[in-house]
Amino acid sequence: MKSVLLTGGNGFIGTRFNEAHKHNFDILSLGSGELNILDRKKIKETFKIFKPDYVIHAAAIALTDFCNDNPDKCYEINVTGAVNIAEACKNTGSKMIFLSTEQVFNGNPEPGPYKEEQIPVPDTMYGKNKLEAEGLIKNILDDYLILRFTWMFGVPERNRPVVANIFWSTIEAILKGEQIKVPVNEFRGLTYVNELMDQFDKIMDLPTGTYHVGSNNEKNRYDIVCHILSEMGLKHRVNELIIKDKEKYRDHPRDARLDTSLIQSKGIFFSDTTEAVSKCIREYHLKIR
Ligand SMILES: NC(=O)c1ccc[n+]([C@@H]2O[C@H](COP(=O)([O-])OP(=O)(O)OC[C@H]3O[C@@H](n4cnc5c(N)ncnc54)[C@H](OP(=O)(O)O)[C@@H]3O)[C@@H](O)[C@H]2O)c1
Repeated sequence: MKSVLLTGGNGFIGTRFNEAHKHNFDILSLGSGELNILDRKKIKETFKIFKPDYVIHAAAIALTDFCNDNPDKCYEINVTGAVNIAEACKNTGSKMIFLSTEQVFNGNPEPGPYKEEQIPVPDTMYGKNKLEAEGLIKNILDDYLILRFTWMFGVPERNRPVVANIFWSTIEAILKGEQIKVPVNEFRGLTYVNELMDQFDKIMDLPTGTYHVGSNNEKNRYDIVCHILSEMGLKHRVNELIIKDKEKYRDHPRDARLDTSLIQSKGIFFSDTTEAVSKCIREYHLKIR
């Protein structure tokens, strides 16, 4: 059985990888308490003992506003931490799987969907950190995958947290009976995290390179939220719960969609965003009767 060292093992993606693939790989899943990615000595020791075939580097600070407000701290974790892990992979000959983001493109003047070869123009510290880490990893390693994810969504599960995502935020709004303001000028692919997990082992064996990973999307964020409510049987509550925000991003629509034709050409497919939302609602029986 092949071995996987997983950083960020307590996070949204990490906990789900662990659950989905615990019988397929020998997984060493590490949270920040077990392995701080800034502690080079500990990293070296851990890699020397475990000698992983694959390293999934999911540890990061992925909070856009927090990164803008705390650029030094986030640089250390998102860039220096990633380099530390890449150097350790070089020493053990492990394949590094680096989780990057659509947000490398959110300052691009031209609209998406973006292809892998397009030059990203990130306009947040988080996006800049990820892009810089991508470049440094490519310089250090020959055997790597850079996976640029769209925005993942899912629901909280036993001992498995969620990070902020439109799907869960909509359910929270329903539970609280609170209105949420949702922009019409924002376009992002939303990927059902379980669809990612179902194919992650296949993705891990892709040839070295950068890949755009996740769902396509033709709809704006407001229409997606309406779709969530409608699929949950709550179409009649759209006007009560959702305020259409026409001002945000009016002058420059936010478009961070990824062109996923490269990964599709390798046989890896995702539902488009509306179908992914419907699938999640079906699988978790979230339709309210
Ligand atoms: N979720 C998405 O939609 C999405 C989209 C694109 C890309 N990504 C990328 O996918 C990866 C995983 O994201 P996620 O959603 O699972 O985020 P998450 O839930 O916030 O998980 C990130 C994990 O990083 C760990 N971490 C932070 N600082 C650390 C340090 N100094 N040493 C070791 N671990 C540290 C934390 O560990 P502890 O909890 O143990 O402190 C945390 O659980 C990230 O790289 C993110 O940029 C996610």
